[in-house]
Amino acid sequence: MDKTIDLINNLKDIPAMPHVIVKVLRMLHSEKAGVPELANLVRCDQALCTKLLALVNSAYYGFGKHIVSINMAISLLGFKKTMNLIIAVAMNPLLSFQGAKSLWYHSLYTAAGCEYIAEKYKLINPDDAFVMGFLHDIGKIVLNLIDSERYQTFMSNDIHPDLNIQDERLKFETDHSSTGSLLAARWQLPESIKDAIRYHHYPLKVENFVGPAIVNIVNILVQEKYQDEWFDGELAKMIKLNVDDVSALREEIFNRGNILIKELSS
Ligand SMILES: [Fe+2]
Ligand SMILES: [Fe+2]
Repeated sequence: MDKTIDLINNLKDIPAMPHVIVKVLRMLHSEKAGVPELANLVRCDQALCTKLLALVNSAYYGFGKHIVSINMAISLLGFKKTMNLIIAVAMNPLLSFQGAKSLWYHSLYTAAGCEYIAEKYKLINPDDAFVMGFLHDIGKIVLNLIDSERYQTFMSNDIHPDLNIQDERLKFETDHSSTGSLLAARWQLPESIKDAIRYHHYPLKVENFVGPAIVNIVNILVQEKYQDEWFDGELAKMIKLNVDDVSALREEIFNRGNILIKELSS
């Protein structure tokens, strides 16, 4: 039986969505949303300003000019990319719990990979793909809260991620895709993001599977212990992701992820 709802209801502190993300999302849905409003919000946070400027001046976007103002940075990036970067920075404390020091990094590599693949192969909106990839494992935050000691034994597992989730079911009577989709619902995330979180380990169980499938493929490609036979060529074909050279693709994803990590953690 699925115990996800019981487990979450028994938790004393369900993580709240970071305040700055709530503000940005509210802004996105209001008619006043624009570059000046977003720039004002970013300016309230010195660290965020520095990171945003570092990233727009990096090779990640390759704008090719020196950008010194936040307004200019946001105009060049656009509203959604800026918002995604704010999400990536603001989620750092939630994704950096003890025993999962690498979860924030893993989320950034996955985000960078999903954005890159979505854009290069023209599959879905790259900005949406970024946030799907970035938030795909938020359910792990909840499992860690349920029983951090038990959960930490999973963090060192070297097995295929889609098998790992079966292990979680055995030990927790739920898994991070279920806890993640409940958290996504509490945070009122859009349906497509919720689906990517819910189905990233079994993308073919949902009708609109392109987003969840991209996350599934990238999540596997960015595993440290990745093995060639883990690449699901059938799934890739189903979403018209025709990769000639998987190791070159992995390298590109890691390069992009490394830039994101460098600029956003400085
Ligand atoms: Fe996962
Ligand atoms: Fe993952």
